[in-house]
Amino acid sequence: MKEEIEKLLAEVADLKCKTRKEVEEARVRFLGKKGEITKLFDDFRAMDKESKKTFGRVLNELKNAAMNKIEELKDTVADDTVSDGPKADLSMPGDPFELGSRHPVSIVRQEIVDIFRKFGYDVAEGPEIEDDYHVFEALNFPQNHPARDMQDTFFISAGHPNPLLLRTHTSSVQVRAMETMKLPIRVICPGRVFRNEAISARAHCIFHQVEGLYIDEGVTFADLKQAILLFAREMFGPETEIRMRPSYFPFTEPSAEVDVSCNICHGKGCNICKGTGWLEILGCGMVDPNVLEASGIDSKKYTGFAFGMGLERIAMLKWRVNDLRHYFENDMRFLKEFNTAVEV
Ligand code: PHE
Repeated sequence: MKEEIEKLLAEVADLKCKTRKEVEEARVRFLGKKGEITKLFDDFRAMDKESKKTFGRVLNELKNAAMNKIEELKDTVADDTVSDGPKADLSMPGDPFELGSRHPVSIVRQEIVDIFRKFGYDVAEGPEIEDDYHVFEALNFPQNHPARDMQDTFFISAGHPNPLLLRTHTSSVQVRAMETMKLPIRVICPGRVFRNEAISARAHCIFHQVEGLYIDEGVTFADLKQAILLFAREMFGPETEIRMRPSYFPFTEPSAEVDVSCNICHGKGCNICKGTGWLEILGCGMVDPNVLEASGIDSKKYTGFAFGMGLERIAMLKWRVNDLRHYFENDMRFLKEFNTAVEV
């Protein structure tokens, strides 16, 4: 046994291989089921206790030496394992993998942001969990004023003098802009908003807005009208007309709702515009002097306008989707419809 072990140790130490195949053959010769070292282990098992003591350790050393050597040789020889089989065909086309697509609401938000950026507006963002002051109080919604019911609110800490709540519009970001930015201010505020509304084809408790604010000396309603007209033409096409209808918001005076001419029937009347030829897209108005003063802006010197629109609504008009809920369900069949809009 002793000579056998020494002979094998020397052989293992001297072992040289050129290819993977040779390494594998050597492994089988020494360590395979019928390998020489494996055989020694069989003999070892039949030995008496005394002999086991003598050979156990050296035999294990031999086995480890053989295993290490084989591993070492595997790393050093050239990998010829594929050379026997067919070579990979490099001219084959790759496995295609599916690209994702932007969500339609993101596409519309980007379009709107790009348009207003061209007009010189900055983008401002703010917290979705807001306080009552920034969502209502600073925007001229007095405590207990019925106008607060226009936007059913999710309160987080009710009963507090300035409770936390989920913002119902991104006008809160405009308040923060007025508090912190230098005049003149030109910002748009895209973001997610929350209202406690029953979910239906036309309403959801979560949706997205882009609101805008422009404050400078001498800003007039004519500037507002022109800004909205330019925006509408960029967004819906150069032929688009707008019309303004008087409306009410606590934070603007005068206030208006804006319709664009229906880009589907071009005013003739269809089921999208419900036969009127017009589609409502946003609310707007001249910033109420109370709102300017609340944020420390001199309302004698400065005037401004604000506007706000719902992105899902614009996306519905753009792609003629008739149910708002599609935008929230993330059904791949729906989202894939917008695949072409991916920018790489
Ligand atoms: N904040 C209003 C809303 O959420 C939209 C709006 C913004 C109206 C600015 C007028 C001026 O409905």
